[in-house]
Amino acid sequence: MVSTYKAAADIEVLTTNFPVPGFGLVPVNSYVFKGAEPLLVDTGIVVQSGEFMAALRSVIDPAELRWIWLSHTDFDHIGMLPQLLAENPRVRVITSFLSVGIMSLSSPLPLDRLYLINPGQSITIGDRTLTAFKPPVFDNPATMGFFEQSSQILFSADCFGALLSDVPQSAADLEEKTLRDGQIFWGSVDSPWVHNVDNFAFARQLDGIRKLSPKLILSGHLPTAPGYLTERLLSALAAVPAAQPFVGPDQVQFQQMLQKMSEGQQ
Ligand SMILES: [Fe+2]
Ligand SMILES: [Fe+2]
Repeated sequence: MVSTYKAAADIEVLTTNFPVPGFGLVPVNSYVFKGAEPLLVDTGIVVQSGEFMAALRSVIDPAELRWIWLSHTDFDHIGMLPQLLAENPRVRVITSFLSVGIMSLSSPLPLDRLYLINPGQSITIGDRTLTAFKPPVFDNPATMGFFEQSSQILFSADCFGALLSDVPQSAADLEEKTLRDGQIFWGSVDSPWVHNVDNFAFARQLDGIRKLSPKLILSGHLPTAPGYLTERLLSALAAVPAAQPFVGPDQVQFQQMLQKMSEGQQ
């Protein structure tokens, strides 16, 4: 189910909790930034496209959208992209060159409706200026987050995600340990390369976020996080390199999971 809530007066969250059997729930978020030139940040999960459109329509007429920020091309971010482009000839996609290349393998983006951006570059849309940045962790080389200058809101793409058992609307409502453990686990699953990074180099990346001092952090996979949680979020990420690497269930464990699931259904 895709539901909505407000992250700020002019920002709507479209969210769903995706279950990972045996591990918990991954929140999957998209955002509508209202204003002179409304912006949709990511477009939901491919298999939930109908539900996503209903939720989107409950917060804005999709024909009013002027921009889509496509953080990267994973299936939990591109769900309604082709339909939105087909239905709304005015909407343009802000993304990276790599996103365009990857999308060309399945659902090519219209080349005359792109705005390509690289880390450090900015785009002004209506009353908002978005500066692109490469988050410290990511699972897709196309990934691009942004920092919105006037409101000092950070959108971090997959970075700062957490695997949770309950998903509140605000990360401030999570126990500190629950948030930390959920983030570390997500980091190990989603960005396993972090186990191989140089700690000092990684700390510099985290420092880049610290210097921005965001008032609000919006992640694709975390409840809305007020700025005062930034240190807590960065501290959890800093612990990922030394954390236990994730190893998925093998066939024996998978059979046991299936058995448990079928017993639960009986
Ligand atoms: Fe991703
Ligand atoms: Fe994602």
